[in-house]
Amino acid sequence: MVTRLILASMLLAAAAGTAFAEIGGGDIKFEVKGESDVVFSHADHVRDNEVKCTACHDKLYLNVKKHRKVSAKQMNLGESCGKCHNGKDAKINVADKSRCTECHEQN
Ligand code: HEC
Ligand code: HEC
Ligand code: HEC
Repeated sequence: MVTRLILASMLLAAAAGTAFAEIGGGDIKFEVKGESDVVFSHADHVRDNEVKCTACHDKLYLNVKKHRKVSAKQMNLGESCGKCHNGKDAKINVADKSRCTECHEQN
């Protein structure tokens, strides 16, 4: 009985550990001029939607320090988030005016 309880609490601790462990590069904040900021979530992509690291690295993105800034216009032409967020490969479409706030959170 005692062993069972110890095992159960160990499993719980392990589960909590996974929940807080950073996935890929974690949450990345893009500070945007003229629009509200965008937080990109590795967990949403890698864990919840099974997007592979290689779908984004290193062709689209390197890291925060080597960030290549992309304009909204370039994004609408398929660069950066727009590579997938075109309404086909991913539902949210960077060109759809009713969905801007799904990335540009109101703050
Ligand atoms: C859907 C696209 C996408 C996927 C999939 C993805 N990443 Fe990223 N990753 C990004 C973006 C966007 C950045 C920020 C790059 C920038 O600022 O230019 C980033 C940055 C990073 C960074 C650097 C963080 C920093 O602080 O500089 C690491 C490390 C990283 N990713 C690892 C991973 C790993 C490991 C995986 C797979 C488990 C993964 N990424 C999957 C989009 C992605
Ligand atoms: C899939 C997520 C996503 C959606 C949807 C999205 N954006 Fe963005 N947008 C971004 C990210 C990320 C950046 C920052 C890019 C960078 O710094 O490289 C950005 C940058 C911008 C910028 C600053 C760059 C520039 O051209 O001046 C503007 C303005 C902008 N977005 C407007 C919009 C509007 C308007 C919509 C809706 C029609 C929209 N965005 C939808 C992710 C998104
Ligand atoms: C390699 C393809 C790819 C790239 C690049 C990509 N995404 Fe996504 N994203 C997806 C997929 C796939 C989904 C989930 C399925 C869907 O929306 O159809 C998703 C979902 C999302 C969601 C909704 C998350 C949720 O579960 O509620 C947001 C917000 C988002 N992405 C933001 C971004 C931003 C911001 C960028 C650019 C910095 C970006 N994505 C780049 C593929 C991508």
